[in-house]
Amino acid sequence: MNKIITTADGSNTLFNETIGEHYHSTHGALQESEHVFIDAGLKHAIANFPGQQISIFEVGFGTGLNFLLTLAHCKANDIELNYTGVEAFPIAKEELILTDYSKYVSSEVWNALFDNYESAQEAEVDLFPNQKLRVLKNTFQEVIPSATHHLMYYDAFSVRHQAEMWTDEMIAHAANFLLPGGIFVTYAITGKLKRALKGLGFTIEKLTGAAGKREMLRATKAN
Ligand SMILES: C[S@@+](CC[C@H](N)C(=O)[O-])C[C@H]1O[C@@H](n2cnc3c(N)ncnc32)[C@H](O)[C@@H]1O
Repeated sequence: MNKIITTADGSNTLFNETIGEHYHSTHGALQESEHVFIDAGLKHAIANFPGQQISIFEVGFGTGLNFLLTLAHCKANDIELNYTGVEAFPIAKEELILTDYSKYVSSEVWNALFDNYESAQEAEVDLFPNQKLRVLKNTFQEVIPSATHHLMYYDAFSVRHQAEMWTDEMIAHAANFLLPGGIFVTYAITGKLKRALKGLGFTIEKLTGAAGKREMLRATKAN
């Protein structure tokens, strides 16, 4: 079961009692999502792939916060978006309401997720012209990769709580979802993760982390 909690920036997140971890940083869920996934990930991908429909794969769709902020940014900037999230344990729609994330995006963006939350788990949904969502109700391990994505949000629970999501084998699996030049971002950074990505031919960048974390990682697949 999940418990709703308020983080340091006033935004909510869920605490997964089985795994013993929060869905986002307790130092601020909203600031973490903006810092790691929007500023270091999405904006960088838009700059690197100008004029293209941005195809994103998210590992751990969770509360949909990363998705909501992504859709809001793309909508405001006329960016075409093709978003696929994988989520092994989709939260209930009632939990989605409890997050109160409707506060951080327009009602149009919030309703696009809320009204299509269940249907997106069955098939790809056109939310707006050229802005699509699909949520795969699977484990990431089960998804067959296709190297068609510009950007991957790697938002699994931490290595301390879910080591199986951070093995070299799993990072190699993740790499197979990205196009040449594709970008991998995550809130975490460890020597093992950097070595795994370097070994797969990625260029590594250590960036300033979100509040509460010194550093985060962005990596770019070789062209
Ligand atoms: C850190 S949370 C993700 C937070 C999310 N990105 C958000 O914006 O709320 C990690 C998520 O990964 C999911 N998860 C755990 N194991 C998984 C697996 N093997 N495959 C896919 N998703 C998994 C969890 O259920 C949880 O929703």
